[in-house]
Amino acid sequence: MKIGLLTGGGDCPGLNAVIYAAVKKGINKYGDEFVGFLNGWRGVLDNNWIPLTLEKIDGIQLTGGTILHSSRTNVKKIPGGIEKVQEVLKANGIDALIALGGDDTQSVTLALTEAGIPGVGVPKTIDNDINGTDATFGFDTAVAIATEAVDRIRTTADSHNRVVVIEVMGRDAGWIAYAAGVAGGADVVLVPELPIDIDHVSKLLKYNYDRGKHYGLVVVAEGCHLPDVGQVVTGAAVDSFGHARLSGIGEALADLIEEKTGYETRSVNLGHLVRGGSPTAYDRLLGQRYGLHAIDMVHDQKWGRIAVLKGTDITDITIAEAVAKNRKLDQRFFDVITDLEAKV
Ligand code: F6P
Repeated sequence: MKIGLLTGGGDCPGLNAVIYAAVKKGINKYGDEFVGFLNGWRGVLDNNWIPLTLEKIDGIQLTGGTILHSSRTNVKKIPGGIEKVQEVLKANGIDALIALGGDDTQSVTLALTEAGIPGVGVPKTIDNDINGTDATFGFDTAVAIATEAVDRIRTTADSHNRVVVIEVMGRDAGWIAYAAGVAGGADVVLVPELPIDIDHVSKLLKYNYDRGKHYGLVVVAEGCHLPDVGQVVTGAAVDSFGHARLSGIGEALADLIEEKTGYETRSVNLGHLVRGGSPTAYDRLLGQRYGLHAIDMVHDQKWGRIAVLKGTDITDITIAEAVAKNRKLDQRFFDVITDLEAKV
């Protein structure tokens, strides 16, 4: 078969591991031929692709980012977009597509498969928020980097007797904040799934200061809702899927904390730092397992389905189920956060 691969949405450590495994098994086991569309769905619309050979993929599973580059292109919103995709695939003799992406990218895969284009999905996001899968590759790397940052910020916060608010990505889900906050031993962990109570945050910090710990670490997810403000965004622009750029809650929260407590407070936004660099061994492995399953899905003609991790098994579900809603933190994780907090 001739198969097209693409990566859409924000990049994510482990994408190249998926590409590596899918192409390697496809060529070696099935005798497939591969093309990689560049810049996500944009590359399909523009007929912009590179051949993916064994030589091209050598060693890429170790690397961060995506060798295919990425974009947030919403084919559904482009007049004639679906027909253009059909045309380009036909012109290149492409039998099937493997789309690596989060819910936005997969909503396009779904629309294309509903229009009769053979395609399967692989879930991708550092945010770990895709419905129906227990873990997405990239999350482990993001948590490792964010945790290291929290560790490093601890020593400077301690030296200067300061509170430091550390903002992390995650969009509307608090997985990265929860995991890095707890692993890094933050005094306060704030996730979008729960409302922020500034009085409570101040009391938690004050509890420690009153007992001789003259610094504080607060980890906040970018998607948290600030009282009377809501989500904090940068600029007025939204992407082609209607998402605003979440960023800045850490700085706003630091001001509120300093005002309320009188403690000197700073903020750091880890932003894209946690998305860059090479994937952890776990993500290299998970990405390759997803890739191996995806190529089997193509040969089993599982169109409109997406690979998922259930427990320790890689299996698949419909893309419709995966994009129906986001996977959020639940009570079990809230309990971890509150059980580790001071009782104030
Ligand atoms: O969805 C992944 C993600 O990294 C989110 O955590 C974040 O809000 C967003 O992408 C940032 O996107 P961009 O790279 O377009 O700024």
